[in-house]
Amino acid sequence: MAEHIVKRRLDYEKPDFLISETALTFDLFPEKTVVTSVLLVKRQNTKASHITLDGEELCLVSVSVNDKALSSDEYELNASGLKLCIDCDSVELKIVTEINPKQNTSLEGLYYTQDAYCTQCEAEGFRKITYYLDRPDVLSIFTVTIRTTDAPNKYLLSNGNLVKRYKEGDTDIAVWHDPHPKPSYLFALVAGDFDLLVDTFITRSGRVVNLELYLEKGRLQQGQHALDSLKKAMKWDEDTYGLEYDLDVYMVVAVDFFNMGAMENKGLNVFNSKFVLADAKTATDEDFFNIESIIAHEYFHNWTGNRVTCRDWFQLSLKEGLTVFRDQQFSADMSSYLSTRISQVKVMREHQFVEDTGPMSHPIRPDEVMEMNNFYTVTVYDKGAEVIRMLHTLLSAEGFRKGMDLYFARHDGEAVTCDDFVDAMATANNMDLQHFRQWYSQSGTPLIAVSKKENDLAATTEFTFTQVNPKTADQKEKSPLFVPIVAEFLDTSGKVVDAPSLTNSSIIVNEQHNSFSVEGTNLTPVLLDKFSAPVVIDYDYSIPELLHIIRYASSSYAKWDASQRVFSACIQARYAMQISNATPRGDKLINNRNTLDVQGVLSEYANVLVNADIEGDVLVELLSLPSTETARTGLKTIDPIAFEDASEYVQKSFAEHIGGHALACLSASQVATYQYSVEQVNQRALNASWLKLAVLNEDTRNAALLEIEQRYIQSDNMTDRLNCLKVCQIENIDLFDKLMSSFEQEFGHDAVIMDKWFGLHATTKRVDILAQLDLLRAHGQFTINNPNKVRALIGSFAFYNTLGFHQKHGAGYKYLGDYLLDLDKVNPQVASRIVTPLLQFESFNEPYKSLMKSQIERIFTSKGLSRDLFEKASKALT
Ligand code: ARG
Ligand code: ZN
Repeated sequence: MAEHIVKRRLDYEKPDFLISETALTFDLFPEKTVVTSVLLVKRQNTKASHITLDGEELCLVSVSVNDKALSSDEYELNASGLKLCIDCDSVELKIVTEINPKQNTSLEGLYYTQDAYCTQCEAEGFRKITYYLDRPDVLSIFTVTIRTTDAPNKYLLSNGNLVKRYKEGDTDIAVWHDPHPKPSYLFALVAGDFDLLVDTFITRSGRVVNLELYLEKGRLQQGQHALDSLKKAMKWDEDTYGLEYDLDVYMVVAVDFFNMGAMENKGLNVFNSKFVLADAKTATDEDFFNIESIIAHEYFHNWTGNRVTCRDWFQLSLKEGLTVFRDQQFSADMSSYLSTRISQVKVMREHQFVEDTGPMSHPIRPDEVMEMNNFYTVTVYDKGAEVIRMLHTLLSAEGFRKGMDLYFARHDGEAVTCDDFVDAMATANNMDLQHFRQWYSQSGTPLIAVSKKENDLAATTEFTFTQVNPKTADQKEKSPLFVPIVAEFLDTSGKVVDAPSLTNSSIIVNEQHNSFSVEGTNLTPVLLDKFSAPVVIDYDYSIPELLHIIRYASSSYAKWDASQRVFSACIQARYAMQISNATPRGDKLINNRNTLDVQGVLSEYANVLVNADIEGDVLVELLSLPSTETARTGLKTIDPIAFEDASEYVQKSFAEHIGGHALACLSASQVATYQYSVEQVNQRALNASWLKLAVLNEDTRNAALLEIEQRYIQSDNMTDRLNCLKVCQIENIDLFDKLMSSFEQEFGHDAVIMDKWFGLHATTKRVDILAQLDLLRAHGQFTINNPNKVRALIGSFAFYNTLGFHQKHGAGYKYLGDYLLDLDKVNPQVASRIVTPLLQFESFNEPYKSLMKSQIERIFTSKGLSRDLFEKASKALT
């Protein structure tokens, strides 16, 4: 195991050596693959006399320089690399290593599962294949030869174009050449037998591209949606950014064992099969959506990531924030803007804001990293995308495009920094983005406190914005950021008043205090429309103001945001009552600001929803309660159980107020043959909301449960069926158990579908949940070696089973702690993801806080801990 060293962004130094050409030969055997690497090394720094190649968990067979074999006293070998003398400007280095793909359960480097070989090199996995300059600013032309004597390895794939495919005796050989220089993290190799789905795409300049989708045998028809998505993405990138594909073939391979969603290796994407396989019967609307978006994401990386890559890993957001932003734009164009945007905002509020408050807080461009795999975070990805989005808002679509064009004109074929990107945007638009850049270096969620002062004489209203940047675990000193707040102001009749001083519909908050004056009084401000910046707005909205927004705001997003505030206020008020010992007087509750009549508010809100003329796609959003993370905004610590109770109380009360109506809406809907279309997706979502509310309402409960059972049996699609299961999971455990066994009978053979089943079981409220988890771990479809299984069962439990995880005496935490210690030996990357809920101990009241912390302490002091878990545990404890 290599040492646990912290690397710093500011320590970056250019490489002393480059590798202009890389020729790799793989002799594939599951337990002993021989990798022969021939490198053309060019010295850049004439003062350098030694090269240090990265390498981990390798068995070195031989090394030679210009055909002369080195003896072991001519190089230095340790757990992280190989150092040897090079004192001329150009040499040929030949290195032979042996690796064991079958034993590689970390799923990083080259691994062998389910009779196929597969690689994952980003970020630093290539060093588990051979000794190399494994850093993104070393770009090389790769030629790859794959040799196998194993007949079942029908397909032998690597990056670029296939040069030759032939046989030598009983050895099958394929040679690939990638004409585009690339860093090692984009290298890929796949060998195995698959079913192959093919198509072509003709680029706008007439290049014919073969599209090839490699799938597990027998699953061909489940690949069509992914393939269609790919073609849409290719077309969209041409239309929107003028970007064309640049090789003759684009391959996508789906595998069951994969650490994350997918990987953009040049010309040869590797995907988690969960983000490829779909048909009506087995995949939900959400799955269809995710597949389309991830296929697009990896495709878009061909330009934002591959053609222009990162200089060092601290710049990860250069490619990820930008590519997420691009896939978000694409998704919004392909499906509904509103639901797409809301789901992105939920990721920010439920995960990214949470990361900011915990020990792993970091800017979108981190300054210090111990294990790079720990920085593929919601901050780098999703907040990174929000930062790009702000640029897009500030520069407009046209200005943004000019910046993109200049970025590619300047940097195609290079490894660059986030600063280079912002420079291109600034220059192309002749705009000073100096202040804006701080979004890259400052971590944390800005809080924008807003107050209102009316000047009756002048008939104007002044809004004052106070920016507070709370200190985070990684940074004590903060300064005000440049924050565009898209806003509008409603008068008492609901009309939008003229506010000529808005820039691009935005108020720019860029100092600790900014004031903004609007004509008129009695105005309701609608702030941060479309989530124009990754901040929290703290304005003391009254319930009537929120209902006013829901009735009249010009933006559906703003209506949704206001509805979340209505629910959150109710939940917080109820929670305050529960944890204070005050005897409740009726339902009149005191929250920190107002007396809130929760039942009254919910009844009035239900009334607005029933009577205002609200479109179905908006309505579905207005019917759903906020998550705990959103609802607790403003509360530093909570009692998780009491908070969950409060939330359930509000959910149930809301159902009592609107539920009678729910069943009526539901039965009115007609079920058509499944199609993944905007209308149908919305209709199904609406049905699910009504069903849930109808079950929660005492009067309609029994009728709704009958409806659920029927729908479950009759439905032709996974979306409706899963929605049925989710509803009875909350309200009728007997029916739930019954439907779950029938689900298992029907889909027990299918690993991808069974993840849903594991996930549902893991999030069920049962007193014996831990014993249940034990049973599920013994299920034939479960294995600790498969990240999807572990995430579905253990991940869902830890992240989403509030009552099961937060047990009074810490049994839930201990369960996770025990599991993580085992998992860390198998797959540190996955263990390091699932530890996340335990890291948040500072956000909970005692006894939860200490019990969670003691599990982190236990992990921290255990022997042989991975760098991944070590980094997180040690941060959490300082
Ligand atoms: N670059 C890949 C993507 O955007 C993800 C790679 C994640 N790597 C990791 N070590 N976690 O989609
Ligand atoms: Zn990506």
